[in-house]
Amino acid sequence: MKCLFDNINEWKVIQDKIEIKENRLAESIMSIGNGYMGMRGNYEERYSGDSHRGSYIAGVWFPDKTRVGWWKNGYPEYFGKIPNSVNYIGIRIFIDGVELDLEKCNVENFYRELDMKNGILKRKFTVNINGKKFEANITRFLSVSVKELAVIKYDIKALNSSAKIKFIPYLDSNIKNEDSNYEEEFWNAVSSSSSEYRGNILSRTKENTFKTPIFTVGATMHIKTRGKVDDISYLSTDNYCENSITMDVLENETIGIEKYVTITSTRDYSENELLKKCDDILNIEISKEYEEILNEHTKLWNKRWESADIKIEGDKSSQQGIRYNLFQLFSTYYGEDSRLNIGPKGFTGEKYGGATYWDTEAYCLPVYLGVADKSVARNLLVYRYNQLKQAKDNAKKLGLKGALYPMVTFDGVECHNEWEITFEEIHRNGSIVYAIYNYTNYTGDFGYIKEKGIDVIVEVARFWASRVHLSTRKDLYMIHGVTGPNEYENNINNNWYTNYIAKWCLEYAVENVLKLKKEHSECVERNNVSLEEIEIWRIISKKMYLPYDEELQIIVQNDNFLDKEFIEVKDLPKENLPLNQKWSWDKILRSCFIKQADVLQGIYYFGNMFTKEEKKRNFDFYEKYTVHESSLSSSVYSIIASEVDDLKKAYELYSRTARLDLDNYNNDTNDGLHITSMSGSWLSIIHGFAGMRTWNETLSFEPKLPQEWNNYSFNINYRDNNIHVDVYSNLIKIENLKGKPIKIIVYGEEYVLEKSIEINRSKLK
Ligand code: BGC
Repeated sequence: MKCLFDNINEWKVIQDKIEIKENRLAESIMSIGNGYMGMRGNYEERYSGDSHRGSYIAGVWFPDKTRVGWWKNGYPEYFGKIPNSVNYIGIRIFIDGVELDLEKCNVENFYRELDMKNGILKRKFTVNINGKKFEANITRFLSVSVKELAVIKYDIKALNSSAKIKFIPYLDSNIKNEDSNYEEEFWNAVSSSSSEYRGNILSRTKENTFKTPIFTVGATMHIKTRGKVDDISYLSTDNYCENSITMDVLENETIGIEKYVTITSTRDYSENELLKKCDDILNIEISKEYEEILNEHTKLWNKRWESADIKIEGDKSSQQGIRYNLFQLFSTYYGEDSRLNIGPKGFTGEKYGGATYWDTEAYCLPVYLGVADKSVARNLLVYRYNQLKQAKDNAKKLGLKGALYPMVTFDGVECHNEWEITFEEIHRNGSIVYAIYNYTNYTGDFGYIKEKGIDVIVEVARFWASRVHLSTRKDLYMIHGVTGPNEYENNINNNWYTNYIAKWCLEYAVENVLKLKKEHSECVERNNVSLEEIEIWRIISKKMYLPYDEELQIIVQNDNFLDKEFIEVKDLPKENLPLNQKWSWDKILRSCFIKQADVLQGIYYFGNMFTKEEKKRNFDFYEKYTVHESSLSSSVYSIIASEVDDLKKAYELYSRTARLDLDNYNNDTNDGLHITSMSGSWLSIIHGFAGMRTWNETLSFEPKLPQEWNNYSFNINYRDNNIHVDVYSNLIKIENLKGKPIKIIVYGEEYVLEKSIEINRSKLK
């Protein structure tokens, strides 16, 4: 499969042959989005081969009735899904009466590129219809400057004869989710209409018994033509509207259409305003030339790259990988709207859809802290703050105190329904608080904790205090019946990572409550925290049981982990991998194989608490049993590998995370891209190779250069500074592009960075 995209370009993803067998994979890879909406890389024309047509609108979701074999008390009643929404890219093409269908027609010179620098998807091919040859050129983008706008330019050139060409641009909301639990449709038609060069539809998500919001989506299209129109007609039916435009094309002549679509939803306007808003926005846009609209869009993509690009010299595939990941991450979320979050598959697939997971806090938030305005990360924190009530209800439902944030959610209500995850994967709560710490420590803005964060910190501490129990035999607090980040073991006792982050949350709560008590006691009072309660938190955190093996001198993933039968991944016959596709679940659960960073996740989060030797011992022990079958895994391992100077491994794991989808490592990219884990490739470079840390509110670097690269460079925002770092084999150059002189630490030595510093590596001890 790798051959599909093996024409590697640093700024583009190129597909230079048509792919019929793995079309879904190509569709995932060619996805585009603008944060407000996004879509898989489907063709505009009819395609009768296997395809997953998908376009999605951020924040629009549907509660699909839970389907489980054996109902357990506490299960959520629905699973929130991102509904596959109106197909607005569709354009059927008829050439001399023959419908263009890329699966059936004789297609040559197929070429498609995703231009990441400019945020544009382009396609080109020639087709032979009864001896007549035509060249099609198609460009598509979802505007970053006008978020409701999608633009498609479709040109056809007659290469050796004249012909009659019919374009049928349409909007279609007769769409089903592939992952619907009961084969239900999620949309009802409200209205549709069309006129010459224009059409619109309004569709509403179905009423449901769960009292979750109903969404209505409006879509309007406007068609511009290039060439002489011979005939035009239009029609509309339920959830569908079209124009049918016939043009004559002469030999060597190019004709075409431009399709402009605006999409609005009841997230922003009332239902009866939607089509008017679509029209208002559309009318402004169509008064401009295509090039002008395109320029406004590309300018903004270029600006994003100015602050976020990482340049890697000497290794094209690494370069393409990081740009692809940042491109897809920013296409999903750029922080403009605090009601939104980052779904593990963003707008590129349905499984996991656009729901929110702990991935956001653990993996994505640090990237936005580094490359975007601090308001972006703050918006992500506010999103959780606004869902605190639902998290408290969730804890109560399980018979616990405080707040338990959901594993999967759209509106704060848990909608995951596997007991081992819903009830047991509670470590997620720790990451919600860790993100508050991360933001505060990175930006120096304590105001957030004062205003909102403390409420979350306190309720999460209350949760942990009620979820632990005292082992009277050991006089230590324990947490039983959990699933750690490694989902290949369930219902285990004392997962080290969970116990450690619970302990930390309690300590962090004590620290912040005491700090606020002095100057802003109202924040403590509004949360009703007493000195007795703080004392309980302190005792639990002090007496938290943390499994450790004295003989091996390693942290133990959980009770009994070391009693397993140990086989290293390298000794497993290749055909066993990926385990989750080849082995029974039962066999996986009993095995020693680790799905994703677990102990290592903790060592990464709390890196200042462990020595390099400790990190190395744990890395060496756990890495050989880790299969990285969660896309989140390799980045954390890569970071620790860099830290312990295993650059070969760090590079291998970086490549795996940066090219996970481009190379379809886990053989599941056809379902959609791994959007949240894409942030991991940024982390592997910045926290990994460059060793950037911000412990104790001080910026530090420990840059290393993988052997495969000549050099790399990047920019980061840190507080009021913008800093540029260049790493060469024997020279590190750090520039202060914006902001006052700042204290930084490089390789353990302190510098005051005024304009720039250069450190010669050969001179280092
Ligand atoms: C991982 C989880 C993650 C989820 C969504 C799962 O495979 O094990 O840690 O939250 O995917 O990315």
